[in-house]
Amino acid sequence: MNNKLFLAACCLTLAAACTDDDNGSANTNGNQEYGEEYYAGGKAGTVFITSSFAYKQPMPVIDADPTLYKQFMRGERISDKSFVASEEMAFSGLGPVYVRKSCIACHPSYGGRSQRVSGKFDSNDSHNGYLLTIYDPTSPELALSSYFTGMPQTRAVLPFKPPIDENKGSGITITWLPHTDEYGNKFPDGETYELIYPQVTIDQAAILFDRSEFDIDKHKVGIEATIGIYGTGLLDAISDEDLRAEYQQQQARGYCVGVIGKDIDDDATGGNKYYPGKHPGRFTYLCTRGSLDNGPGANALWNITNVNRADRTSLYITRAYAEKMAQDPDVQKLYAGLEPEKIVDSLMSKKQKPEMTMEDYEAFMVWHRGLAVPAARNLDDPKVQRGRTLFYETLGCTACHRPSWKTRDSYLPLPEISNQTIYPYTDLLRHDLDMLEPGRARVCRTTPLWGRGLMKIVSGHSDKLHDLRARNSVEAIMWHGGEASQSREKFHKLSKEDRDALIKFLDAI
Ligand code: HEC
Ligand code: HEC
Repeated sequence: MNNKLFLAACCLTLAAACTDDDNGSANTNGNQEYGEEYYAGGKAGTVFITSSFAYKQPMPVIDADPTLYKQFMRGERISDKSFVASEEMAFSGLGPVYVRKSCIACHPSYGGRSQRVSGKFDSNDSHNGYLLTIYDPTSPELALSSYFTGMPQTRAVLPFKPPIDENKGSGITITWLPHTDEYGNKFPDGETYELIYPQVTIDQAAILFDRSEFDIDKHKVGIEATIGIYGTGLLDAISDEDLRAEYQQQQARGYCVGVIGKDIDDDATGGNKYYPGKHPGRFTYLCTRGSLDNGPGANALWNITNVNRADRTSLYITRAYAEKMAQDPDVQKLYAGLEPEKIVDSLMSKKQKPEMTMEDYEAFMVWHRGLAVPAARNLDDPKVQRGRTLFYETLGCTACHRPSWKTRDSYLPLPEISNQTIYPYTDLLRHDLDMLEPGRARVCRTTPLWGRGLMKIVSGHSDKLHDLRARNSVEAIMWHGGEASQSREKFHKLSKEDRDALIKFLDAI
């Protein structure tokens, strides 16, 4: 931890005594009582801070327990450090192919989302937190290609070659195209806005497979940007029953119907020692992960970097890739005379050597689960209150951005965050917003809105939506069609003053 962060953390621990407000922290003067809604992550999971460190704080419960705090700091290091390919070193095990070397490469400050980038796709650019997806646009489920992993790798450790080489041919290109909506990008009072959407192309020359094997022109490429990591422990602590009840209620409503994430069988996919069995999906845009222990972070530690551990002992590659590499003279040299079929067997083996210790992994999960949510701000400001009324009562936003949930009675991995009232502003369900060129996230999970108002301070931008096509909240709302088109219509009719009040509310939560 650097000194500044240490100071910030101390300041938090001493929150009640810390009245010096020079970095703009929420006023935590001991005498002031905050209403429940300020505690976005519940009393146990909220920190009062508004500096650029807002998304990387431990929950008060972690801070208070020396053992957990030590694990948290170790976990933070694991998420921050770049993994390396050399063996027998700290943070070793990278590759043979990988997407990025660390979590922080795509999740800046853990929560401020990566920035919208354009032009040549460069995974070494620290602003670029995009994952690529390559899918078949003609299949009903937009099936992923079997030539690439779900998150195609563009980097490799020599002598291996990446399935997609960013530097071959014209590589991968992101172009942003303008869109004019049904209102001509104009509010009735004359104020205008601009909408843009992405088009992603990959040059066949950048692809390891030749056109006879895999034809890029018969596929589509999408980009998905990071969601916050902070607060995901609290979302995990919401019970499956409450999630199912929310789904039932939406089905009965008819408007904003939502789709529940498919049941995920943890026993079949790697396990969750706390809650074995099946869980409705709640994490990622497509709700493809049902719990944190078998979730996007736990998986990313392995599949983004290809670092193995005792509970993930295969390589994150496809058979098509293994077969291609087995034909590569440089790779054959590495395997010193082994038959190509045996090279494939070795690469596809489910018994690879673990590269990360389970002790490190456990510490990593304490960090992941224990990242606090920043408190809401300025909720008592009359303008913010006006925005709140519009959000709750006039525009129908809460139909999907469900303001609050209560975490389950007994959350085994971190009992202190049980029974908390939290304010994530999401129903954790998927909705069809009928967005232009949405990629695979056509039916997308409602993104939590907590803490987003601090993005400018944390990351210097406020890019939004699953591919970051929106540069601010107004653009994000104007992309809400489909199930949310009534909300958009009502927002469009608001006066300038009311539009500003709504945005002020979004910035406050
Ligand atoms: C290549 C960039 C990239 C890297 C590196 C990366 N992620 Fe992500 N992460 C994403 C994207 C993109 C999403 C959302 C897309 C999706 O739905 O899968 C995401 C989603 C998540 C989510 C889901 C949040 C939610 O509310 O559903 C968590 C948690 C997460 N990542 C944690 C991690 C951790 C921990 C690491 C490091 C081990 C990591 N990620 C590394 C790009 C990345
Ligand atoms: C039918 C459900 C639904 C309704 C109603 C709805 N939203 Fe959303 N909202 C979503 C979904 C789904 C997303 C994620 C879409 C994506 O990323 O492609 C989203 C994303 C957002 C985002 C961007 C969040 C981010 O960080 O990427 C904002 C801001 C937002 N909504 C505000 C609102 C406001 C304000 C209203 C009311 C005027 C509203 N929404 C109504 C479903 C809804």
